[in-house]
Amino acid sequence: MKFFVDTADTAEIADLAQTGMVDGVTTNPSLIKKSGRDIMEVTKEICDLTDGPVSAEVVALDHETMMKEAEVLRKIADNVCIKVPLTIDGLKTCKALTSDGTMVNVTLCFSANQALLAAKAGASFISPFVGRHDDNGFDGMKLIDDIRLIYDNYAFDTEILVASIRNPIHVLESARIGADVATMPPNVIRGLFKHVLTDKGIEGFLKDWEATGQNIG
Ligand code: G3P
Repeated sequence: MKFFVDTADTAEIADLAQTGMVDGVTTNPSLIKKSGRDIMEVTKEICDLTDGPVSAEVVALDHETMMKEAEVLRKIADNVCIKVPLTIDGLKTCKALTSDGTMVNVTLCFSANQALLAAKAGASFISPFVGRHDDNGFDGMKLIDDIRLIYDNYAFDTEILVASIRNPIHVLESARIGADVATMPPNVIRGLFKHVLTDKGIEGFLKDWEATGQNIG
């Protein structure tokens, strides 16, 4: 399972990259706003921090302008993945871009039918938002399960990129279902390392080691 970091905070990305847990990065207009930085500059910096796909989102709503924005964004670096919303214009843009070899991440997916459309449009990645699904009383992980079944039924190449992840359980369940990618905020990745018994075990080992009076080296 690939881990993408869902942030435009380059310091966080650089730090987490040292753990080997950064297989790519996803951004969106809200994350760019949160970074307080110019989209072109911060996306370029992110592309230099990872060899994996870096999702940069168009903001136009019509196909023609989406294509123009995509042309600007994909010139930033070879590992830029163009993010488009799951709309008719977004899927027209997806089909046009993937037809000439550009990676496309179709975002704001909230139904298995939408995911089916994105796969048929040749999407490289589909981003179902599990957290927002849960927030509105739907079953986010059931959505992932349905998409996995449908994609396997027809051997679609589109990778399931679980987004809007809120907690380690979303990651665990996504892995159990067989999603291809989980994109998560830095704090969720850091939370995956934590376990109270690991902390207690380290505490106990160090206490006993101290009692030996020894040093290593
Ligand atoms: O990649 C999509 C993600 O950033 C959305 O997360 O927490 O705003 O639903 P959230």
